[in-house]
Amino acid sequence: MSDITRRDFVTATAATAACAAVGVTPTYAAAIAPGGGAQPVRAAAGPVIVGSGNCLSGEGYRQRCIDRVVELLAAGKGPLEAVVEGVALVEADPKDMSVGYGGLPNEEGVVELDASVMDGVLHRSGAVGGLQRIMHPARVAKLVLERTDHCMLVGEGALKFARAHGFEEMNLLTNEAREAWLKWKETHSEDDDWIPPEVDENGKQSARWRAWPFSYGTINCCALDVKGNLAGVTTTSGLSYKLPGRVGDSPIIGAGLYVDNEVGAAGSTGRGEAVIQICGAHTVVEAMRQGKSPKDACLEACDRVVKKNRLKRLQTKDGRPNFGLNFYAVNNKGEHGGASIWSGSQYAAYVNGEAKLVPSAFLFETEK
Ligand code: GLY
Repeated sequence: MSDITRRDFVTATAATAACAAVGVTPTYAAAIAPGGGAQPVRAAAGPVIVGSGNCLSGEGYRQRCIDRVVELLAAGKGPLEAVVEGVALVEADPKDMSVGYGGLPNEEGVVELDASVMDGVLHRSGAVGGLQRIMHPARVAKLVLERTDHCMLVGEGALKFARAHGFEEMNLLTNEAREAWLKWKETHSEDDDWIPPEVDENGKQSARWRAWPFSYGTINCCALDVKGNLAGVTTTSGLSYKLPGRVGDSPIIGAGLYVDNEVGAAGSTGRGEAVIQICGAHTVVEAMRQGKSPKDACLEACDRVVKKNRLKRLQTKDGRPNFGLNFYAVNNKGEHGGASIWSGSQYAAYVNGEAKLVPSAFLFETEK
């Protein structure tokens, strides 16, 4: 056997063995490098799916995200396709004003969407930031992963890429989201020329008009399939009334999402700036790599946020964060956890054939 032929043979054999170890399809065989290792002992039978609470919303008017992911995994789809198609239900749902169609717009009344996906098998990722007029940014992010050599496309470039792949353009601003934005626009400052329609005897706007919705909301969903493969997605309309072009944590790999087949997967929702500044999801996965449980790893990331949150304008009078955020994690054994800075949050989990909301661990009791 010549040197080259022998090297090719050894590489191909090692790659095939690695594929068998991680349970990937032969189409990945040429691309995957030797590595991997033994599969961990599973803590749960069947697939495990973990994410933000809205993975379990929608009952009564549409299929829930988590049920769609379960259905697709059962049909033999990979975890990446399953989670992207699961969150697509929420992206299309105008009632969720934090994601996709019906999401709250930027300060100019334009909906700008961010999303990322990550595949634990080949450790690949794709993302879009500031994408306008496309209902399903997570599907576009998946195509960035699959059909480009890049990790992220933003703004006009992301829109052109989506158009090239045949995505339909549409107005993402629902009447409800437009009215919320208008309320915000007319009431957030008394030093501009916008005037709310209703004023009280003191010339102030009514409380009803001032009660505009505000959101850092997002959906994150990570899945571990029966072969031990992980994938995740995070998709959002981001911070409501943000500066045009603002990109949060959701499309940033290592912040709003991180997946490593050797360890686990993690995602986040909440104040993206704080998550970016501690590389949130990566921090969670690395804490799991050091041996922490998913719950403790999520708490460690929350604690890091608290310790690094040094600006007075972002603190309560006790020096705690005056904002919220949440982490969700699943390790490659199928153990899961979630944590938030403040009490009262829940995360979604599908384990041993049952979907449920689980109270998140927390650092501080929310003041009543
Ligand atoms: N976590 C969503 C955002 O900050 O955009």
